[in-house]
Amino acid sequence: MRVLLTGGSGFIGSHIAILLLERGFDVVILDSFVNSSPNVIIRIKKYLDNKDLNYKLETINGDIRDKKILDKIFIDCIKENKPINTVIHLAGLKSVYESLSNPLHYWDVNVFGTLNLLLTMKEYECYSLVFSSSATIYGLSDSVPMAEDHTISPINPYGKTKVAIENMFYDLYNSNLNSWKICSLRYFNPVGAHPSGLIGEDPIGIPNNLFPFITQVAIGTQKLLNIYGDDWGTRDGTGIRDYIHIIDLAEGHLASIDYFNSTESCLEFINLGSGKGYSVFQIIRQFELSTGRKIPFSIQDRRDGDVAKSFADISKAKKLLGWTPKRSLEQICLDGWNWQIKNPHGYG
Ligand code: NAD
Ligand code: UFG
Repeated sequence: MRVLLTGGSGFIGSHIAILLLERGFDVVILDSFVNSSPNVIIRIKKYLDNKDLNYKLETINGDIRDKKILDKIFIDCIKENKPINTVIHLAGLKSVYESLSNPLHYWDVNVFGTLNLLLTMKEYECYSLVFSSSATIYGLSDSVPMAEDHTISPINPYGKTKVAIENMFYDLYNSNLNSWKICSLRYFNPVGAHPSGLIGEDPIGIPNNLFPFITQVAIGTQKLLNIYGDDWGTRDGTGIRDYIHIIDLAEGHLASIDYFNSTESCLEFINLGSGKGYSVFQIIRQFELSTGRKIPFSIQDRRDGDVAKSFADISKAKKLLGWTPKRSLEQICLDGWNWQIKNPHGYG
C-alpha cells in the first residue's frame, strides 16, 4: 500500500514516516521544508538503514497549494502501477501567534492547501484521508476531560482554519456517503522524541511550547523557564495539559489506516491524547527526576489565550481504533532528553 504523507519532514510527520516504513508501506513525502530541515529525511533513512530494512521512500520538495505537483505525484504513482491509496495530511502552519498577525496566510496554506489536496484525491479516486486536527478547536473551555462532542469554539485564526477544514470534510462526506474514509485526529500536546535519538522536535527560534523549552533549559540554550501563571484554579496553580508521547500519537495514524480497512466509508473526529492531565510543576518535577537536570524557573503573568485545564477523553480512539497510548510521562522525558543531548542544535 502506498501512502502520501504531506508535511512528512515535520515533527509529527517524521515519526509517522518511520512507523509507516517499518510496517512496510511505500511512502511518498511531500514537504516544502518551510518549517523543517531536509536533514530529517537523511535521519529517517539512517534509522531504517541501521535496522537493515528494505523500504521505499520518495521525497518531493513542493507545496500542497501547487496543483501541478499534486497531479504529478498521483499520476506518476498510477503509471508505476502503485497508486496512492491513502493520504496522511499534516502539511500546514501551526503557530497561534503567527496566525494572529498573518491570518490570510494561514487560510491560504491550511484551508486552500487542504481543498487543493481533496480536489486532487477526488480526481484520482483516492478516498482515504487521515488529517491532523487540533484540540485548539475546543477553545477557551476548561471543562475536562474533553470528548469529541465538546463545544467547538476556536479563539484564533489557526484554530479557525482547523474547524473550516473539518467542516469541509462534513460537506464532502455528505455529498457522497459511500466513498470517503476520513479520520480527523484532534491532537492534544505531542511531546518527546523517537527513542533512537535520531529524530525529534526542533523548533525554529525560541520555543513557544513547554516541553521543548524545558529541554532547551536543561541543555543550556535557554537560561530559565518562564511559567505562565501559578494562580490558575488547579491543584498547584499551574496550567494542566494532556502530553502524549509522539510515538503513541504516530501509532494513532496507523490505527486509523487499519480502521479504514475494516469499514466501507466513514467520517470520524477523534481525540488523540494520553487522557491524563499534568501541571507545569509536575512536568518539571518528572523531568528533573528522570534526567537529573535542574530546571530553574520564574513565575510570570498568565499568557493570553491559555486555559487552566485541557485534557482528552480518549474513549472513542480506544473503542473505534483499538488504539491506546502506552508510554509514560517518564518515557516522554527520557526520550525528549535523549534527543536533545544527542542533538544540542537540533538538525543543525
Ligand atoms: P511541523 O511544522 O513540524 O510540520 C509541518 C510540516 O509541513 C513542516 O515540515 C513544513 O515544512 C510542512 N509544510 C508547511 N506548509 C507547507 C506547504 N504549504 N506545503 C508543503 N509542506 C508544508 O508541525 P507538526 O508539529 O509536525 O504538526 C503537523 C500538523 O499537525 C500541522 O498541521 C499542525 O497544525 C497539526 N497539529 C500539531 C500540533 C502540535 O502541537 N505539534 C497539535 C495539533 C495539531
Ligand atoms: N507554559 C509555560 N511556559 C512556557 C510554555 C508553556 O508555563 O514557556 C505553560 C502554558 O501556560 C500551559 C502549558 O505550559 O499551561 C502548556 O503550554 P504549551 O504552549 O506547551 O501548549 P498549549 O496547550 O498551550 O498549546 C499547544 C499548541 C497549540 C495546540 C495545543 C493543543 O501550541 O497550537 O497545544 O494541541 F492547539
